[in-house]
Amino acid sequence: MAPSNDLADLDNISIVALDTGHAPALLEHLLRLSVDDRGLRFCAGTVPEGVLAKYVASIRFGEDTVLGAVAAGGRIVALGHACWFRSAEGLVAEAAFSVDEGWRCRGIARRLLQAIRSDASEREAAAVLCQCLARNRPMRRVLVAAEMAIEVEDGEVSARGAALPAHA
Ligand SMILES: CC(C)(COP(=O)(O)OP(=O)(O)OC[C@H]1O[C@@H](n2cnc3c(N)ncnc32)[C@H](O)[C@@H]1OP(=O)(O)O)[C@@H](O)C(=O)NCCC(=O)NCCS
Repeated sequence: MAPSNDLADLDNISIVALDTGHAPALLEHLLRLSVDDRGLRFCAGTVPEGVLAKYVASIRFGEDTVLGAVAAGGRIVALGHACWFRSAEGLVAEAAFSVDEGWRCRGIARRLLQAIRSDASEREAAAVLCQCLARNRPMRRVLVAAEMAIEVEDGEVSARGAALPAHA
């Protein structure tokens, strides 16, 4: 996927495609998440540092969609990661997001989700999926605002949205 620098606008934030050279900065971003936020991000209980390091090492840069929100000065303040897989209906992405605490409620997750759906459109994918804990109100708000179809079961939200061209 080509870098999405054209999405740069408010707050001097640029949404850019990340590569393997960004892995250490990505890990630093994830390590800045609070204990509770790590659990929300991975729909899990305790998420120790070692698990975060393994997660970053498992990212398939160049294959997955890996987008960062980069602040002026170059710090990665948010991550949107979509893993692609083939299902019966075609190519599908499973997407997840994290935003540094000080950068929240500025629409960054919403923009990352839109960028992933735009990439899905370029790949002619069938859908973008996202899961979060039912108690994760900010993420649920992002999914609802993006008009994703939502199901809630056993304390988890499953959301599904169509691929969307960049300026839909
Ligand atoms: C969930 C998360 C990614 C959202 O990032 P963000 O950049 O702040 O999201 P946005 O600014 O695009 O949207 C957040 C929305 O939640 C709303 N919100 C924030 N706190 C809220 C709360 N406690 N209750 C309800 N809504 C809330 C905001 O008002 C905003 O909605 P609006 O744009 O309609 O006003 C961020 O909070 C985060 O990193 N959390 C920890 C990791 C996580 O939960 N990841 C999701 C797993 S997929």
